[in-house]
Parts: sequence; C-alpha cells; structure tokens
Amino acid sequence: MISFRAKAKHDKQASVVLLTDGQGHPRLKSKLEKGEIFPVAEGRGLLVFVGLGKADKLSLTELRIQVRRAFLCSYLKNIKEVELVPHSTQSGAVEAIIEGILIGTYAWDKYKSKPKDDKSVKNKDIFIVAEHKKPYDATIAVCEGMTLARNLVNDNADTVTSEFLEKTVRGLIKGKKNVAIKVLNKKELRANGLNFHLAVNQASKKEPKLVIVKYSRGKKGEGYTAVIGKGMTFDTGGLNIKPTGSMETMKIDMSGAAAVCGILKNTLALGLKKNILFVLGLAENAIGSMAYKPGDVITGYAGKSVEIGNTDAEGRLVLADAFAYVVKNYKPSRMIDLATLTGACVVALGFDYSGLFSNNNEMAKALLRSAKNTDDRAWRLPIYPEMKDYIKSQIADLKNTSNIKGAGASTAAEFLRQFTGDTDWAHLDIAGSSYVDGAGRMYYGHGATGAGVRLVTDYLLNN
Ligand code: BES
Ligand code: ZN
Ligand code: ZN
Repeated sequence: MISFRAKAKHDKQASVVLLTDGQGHPRLKSKLEKGEIFPVAEGRGLLVFVGLGKADKLSLTELRIQVRRAFLCSYLKNIKEVELVPHSTQSGAVEAIIEGILIGTYAWDKYKSKPKDDKSVKNKDIFIVAEHKKPYDATIAVCEGMTLARNLVNDNADTVTSEFLEKTVRGLIKGKKNVAIKVLNKKELRANGLNFHLAVNQASKKEPKLVIVKYSRGKKGEGYTAVIGKGMTFDTGGLNIKPTGSMETMKIDMSGAAAVCGILKNTLALGLKKNILFVLGLAENAIGSMAYKPGDVITGYAGKSVEIGNTDAEGRLVLADAFAYVVKNYKPSRMIDLATLTGACVVALGFDYSGLFSNNNEMAKALLRSAKNTDDRAWRLPIYPEMKDYIKSQIADLKNTSNIKGAGASTAAEFLRQFTGDTDWAHLDIAGSSYVDGAGRMYYGHGATGAGVRLVTDYLLNN
C-alpha cells in the first residue's frame, strides 16, 4: 500500500532517503556515490540513503532503477513500514518513484515452495513524502493494470487458456455500466467464416475465441478506438515446429491479449470518457495430426485467400480475421494492435523498445509521445508500398511469409495492414519488449513486463 504524507517524520521502521550529488543529510558524513545504498541506524529504525548521482543527469528511467534497487536491497527485507523521502519535486519524479516501487519489485513467485523472501511491496506500507495528488492514484492504478497483464503472461499456458482469459475479462467488467461483451467461440467463428483463426487453432483441444468488449463512455457520435491483442496462449510453431531454445518462452505469445486486459482494467479504474473496443484474438498454435499445414490456402473473414508459407507465422492470421471482423461489424475510427508478432522485431530493436508501425503519421506521432511520457518505449519502423510485392503468392491473394530475406517485422506489419480496410491503424510489435528472460533489465525483473499497457493507456487518455 502506498500513501502520501506532507512531511518527513522518520517515524517508521525505515526511511529511504534519495539524494542527488550535493544534497546532504545530518546523519550522512561522506559523499554518496551514484548507485550507493548506505544504511544508518536511527533511533529504533533505519535510514537507507540512496545515491542518485548528478541531479541534471538523472533521468526518470534511472530514478525508477535506483528506487527499485533500494526496495530490493536486503536492508528493507521484512520491514513493514517504510517512509520514502524523494530527492526533489522535479516533475514526474513522484510518478517515477511509484513505478520504481510497483513495477520494479514485481516478482512472479506463485510456484516457489520455499518461504518467499519478502521483496514484494504487497505487505509493506509505504509513505511517500509528497503532497497527495490525483495523478498519483492514476499511476498506481496503471501499475496494477500492468501487474494483471504480467500475471497473465507469467502463468502456465495450460492455466491461462482462452477460457481463463475470457473469464478474466468478464471478471473485470462485472457490474460495470456502459460495457457490453460479445464472445465468438468455435461455432460462431465457423458460422462467420473466420477461417484463419480456426486454422491456427485446429490442432488444439482448447476453444478458439474472439472476445470483444464494447466500452461506451465517449461523447455522442464519437468514434471507437479498437485495441486488439494477439492472444496465442501457446505457440509451438505448429508443423513448422520451433526448435529447442525458441519454444520455451512461448507462453508469452498472448502478451498482446494480456496487455489488452491491463488496458481494460486501467480504463475502468480511470473511468475514461471514451469509446473503446477491447478485442482479444485467442487461440493455441498446437501441433498434431489435425494441425493446419504449410502450403494450405485458406480464405479468411475478409474474403482474401492466404497461402500458408509457415505455420509459425500464425499471429498475423488470427489478427487478420480479428481486424476484418471488427472493421466490418463495428466500424472503429481507429485501431491499435499489440502483438508478440516477430522475432525479426527483436533483431531490429532488441528488448527495450516495441516496434511501432502505422498507416497514419498523426497516430504514430501521438503514440510515440505516449511512449516517451510513460517510458513504455516504442520506435517506429516502416511499411512502404513495395512491401505488397514481398508477400504475394503464386496461388493465393497473399502469403503469410515474405519472399525477401530482411525486414520481417515490416512485412508482417504489411500483412496486417492489408486487413485494416483503410482504418487508421497502428501496430505495436512487443515480441522483444514483453518479456525479460534473465535476471532483469531496466527496472524489470525476470518475466513479463506489461509492455504496451502504460503506452496505450496514456494514448487513450490523451487522444
Ligand atoms: N510468436 C512468434 C514471434 C516471437 C518470437 C515472439 C520471439 C516472441 C519472441 C511468432 O508467431 C513467430 O513465430 N514468428 C515467426 C514468423 C516467421 C515464421 C515468418 C518469426 O518471427 O520467426
Ligand atoms: Zn509463431
Ligand atoms: Zn506467435
């Protein structure tokens, strides 16, 4: 629990005191190095000084990182009440501190049998020395949306199934006004001809689902923004099976759908006065005798036929049907999709940036602004007219793989673009940014990061 108090009182079990170079403290005799964490006994409690380095060099990212380090340090283990004294009232600092605590100390330990060493802040009462402002509550709410997304991604694929995700969405909207839900199961997907979606799921025992939540709190006549997530609950690659080393993390292939859940939670918590469609394309790319096959030609909801160049390029197929269905039946004024779509995006940008693609420069600019505001980073990559030729097929309207070697993230985006029906659209490829495989990076620990949740929530709030 985080709360706020106007003045430092040093009356809790511990006080975390953030200091930039030149800022002193009566109990601190020598200069703190950047990144140094220095404990001093104070009465019955503890003062934990944290060195932030030069004030003019301190980015909000670095601040989050240092706050995270402080809260994970051994001095704060098993301490229940912590006062936190910020270094300044610099704009955005308190929000960054909150994120450093809530995003930074998130850990996935559901399946650890040993007593958990209490790194999580769930059981701590934290008192931030700052005047309580409303935006801070919003920051806390958004972090909780991220936690939901991260929990969904981190749990086993056979736990977080399409059914589980549908239930999660129903739980979020239960009892809320101006919200309606529609779910297309296998039967409805078949009746409507969402054959790409069905093909991808056809070796799975689990139900394919297209979940659509219509949230209507915008002005009369205002258009809808569709937020669409790739929800591959597991991606084996299908008959083009993924090799060892590439499949182990593929429970994360529903990170887009998980982000949509997080964004929906935020939208409800913040009471956004907007019209929004939340869409989850849920399937499992399983393997077996029923699996769809390389070389198949399938005609999807939009009426376009696709040659299957590779069964591992399944995300774009499910999204293509979701786009076409939403465009035809809901006519949104704009769409944003989030998808762990391509390994090529990871090659291009690494792990700290999501790939952004768009058919609309204004939308792209606004999303980049939100990416900057929130530190939920994105970098724009191109889609250009020649790319049409790269995904042509000899035997169908197009192909789900590319005829050229490079630019795999862009050719995948071009495939998606052909199902937008010219609706203003942006695509976030979160293949690299959604997950940390290792001890940690930036202010994230191992596991899901909640990529896209802050970015798209901020975009919806401001656009
Ligand atoms: N889910 C993967 C993309 C992915 C890769 C996500 C790494 C997260 C980390 C996607 O379905 C996939 O397998 N894409 C293929 C496409 C290729 C066959 C054209 C890829 O990127 O290799
Ligand atoms: Zn795949
Ligand atoms: Zn995939």
